[in-house]
Amino acid sequence: MAARNLLISCGLAAAGVLAAGMGLLGMRNASKTAPGGTNDPPPSSREPEPSAAERTRHASAVVPHGEEDAGLARLRHEMVETQIRARGIEDENVLRAMQRVRRHEFVSSQLAFSAYDDCPQRITHGQTISQPYIVAFMTELARVDSRSKVLDVGTGSGYQAAILGEICARVYSMEIIQELADEATRLLARLGYDHVQVRCGDGYRGWPEEAPFDAIIVAAAPDHIPPSLIEQLAAGGRLIIPVGDYAQDLWVIEKQGDGKVKRWKVAPVAFVPMTGEARRHGSP
Ligand SMILES: C[S@@+](CC[C@H](N)C(=O)[O-])C[C@H]1O[C@@H](n2cnc3c(N)ncnc32)[C@H](O)[C@@H]1O
Repeated sequence: MAARNLLISCGLAAAGVLAAGMGLLGMRNASKTAPGGTNDPPPSSREPEPSAAERTRHASAVVPHGEEDAGLARLRHEMVETQIRARGIEDENVLRAMQRVRRHEFVSSQLAFSAYDDCPQRITHGQTISQPYIVAFMTELARVDSRSKVLDVGTGSGYQAAILGEICARVYSMEIIQELADEATRLLARLGYDHVQVRCGDGYRGWPEEAPFDAIIVAAAPDHIPPSLIEQLAAGGRLIIPVGDYAQDLWVIEKQGDGKVKRWKVAPVAFVPMTGEARRHGSP
């Protein structure tokens, strides 16, 4: 895999909120990382910059949900090339999904032109939709394909579920906040993701009725790896999960064919905390 630097953020305003424990700066090959940890893609992979007039129009534009224009399509293309491919994501299924899903549908219509920025975005109920790169990175780590049955914990806006829906046979997504689960259910149905099912519930315990899963992606951080999520992995399956309080790491947990479990850290990250039962358990 190509050497890459990582700038991953799931809270708002990555570098600015590091002190508040909500941003993340994860770097691979730190020696190649520019001051501030950002990773500018090569100029050749960039689209022409939008003009000042275009930027002003974008900043004030409200795009009703269900609509798209050439400017948004261009921003999405630019996002895939400069934030995702240029940072080393190679799985063509992931790149195609990131290109196909209209991220601006998952934020408020006032934020449509910010949806493709290289940062997380605010959604309702004090939650966030993760930075595009972390969504692509976690999806690639999950090693899913068209036969996969996956669990997505922390539905939020439904964006990660839609990305998985582009790639996988079946997606089960759990969200602890009822209103977010309801909004994501309606949005995913409107966008035609009939094979993506959202349920309101505590993802700490997973979705035992539908287990085992070929992959589980978690977008909220507990301070330990929930044992039930490991149990619900199929043989060969992978759990991708942020773990920690103030200092978090993204972990990959892989269940081998013989039932043994391998685990390793891949990057420092900053996600919102997992609520519900995860808060009541200390590290086992
Ligand atoms: C970073 S946001 C998820 C972003 C989401 N994947 C998306 O694409 O928009 C984390 C979400 O996890 C949810 N969450 C936190 N603890 C949870 C739990 N125990 N079970 C299920 N969802 C939980 C939060 O309510 C929040 O919506």
